[in-house]
Amino acid sequence: MDLKELREQISSCDKAIAEAFQRRLELIDEVARYKKEHKMPIYDPAREAEILGRYSGDTKALFTEIMRISRGRQSRALFPYNIALIGFMGTGKSTVAPLLAKALGRGYIDLDEEIERRHGRSIPQIFAEDGESYFRTLERELVEEVSQADYLVIACGGGTILREENRQALKRSSRLVLLTASPLTILERVKHQAHRPLLGGKPTIEAIASLLAQREQLYNEAADVRVSTDGLSPAEVSEEVVLALLQSM
Ligand code: S3P
Repeated sequence: MDLKELREQISSCDKAIAEAFQRRLELIDEVARYKKEHKMPIYDPAREAEILGRYSGDTKALFTEIMRISRGRQSRALFPYNIALIGFMGTGKSTVAPLLAKALGRGYIDLDEEIERRHGRSIPQIFAEDGESYFRTLERELVEEVSQADYLVIACGGGTILREENRQALKRSSRLVLLTASPLTILERVKHQAHRPLLGGKPTIEAIASLLAQREQLYNEAADVRVSTDGLSPAEVSEEVVLALLQSM
């Protein structure tokens, strides 16, 4: 066969793939409607493993991508907005955001990590060298920027929603999901981490409870939905977030 003939055959394969893919997307839209009605999670790891188990190598890689696209499509239909995780330090915002983003086939941004990346310094370094109010300005600018995006998962910092402008900007484009945890759970999660300037080098339950008490009302007022994370794994929290959003519709 010459090159022209080969290309013609490739084009007819592509046409068949495109038609089958289009049909698959229509079926996915029907599944999305079914899941919405029955309040079921979008990401079904067992079902995906079953599909991927049929293929290997490059075909498996293609189906991995096809399923990511399908999840993204279902999640855009069900949740046509950004999902911002808010809540106190140690409630799991940064850990859950990538899992939730994967489950929903969309991208995510972690505000603290993004500030650290852009400015080449850790959060404690920024606090120590330039003070909290400088950090809050950087955070404010980034909130404004991410509020222009669509269909993102946003992991906020624990203090992000304390500012009225941040609450307003986030509310314009996002549903705000409050992750909660008891002071004891928070202490367990943060006690070996050194990157939380507001809790000092050695966090205590008293310091956590007192800062939490000061902020609790604002967190609750800002939240569209709430998920308690005590005793749950990050993957379970991610599922609970999806269910809570479905239930809030
Ligand atoms: C802060 C929480 C931190 C970080 C900064 C200030 C706060 O984020 O933004 O240290 O005011 O509660 P995490 O909640 O992700 O630790």
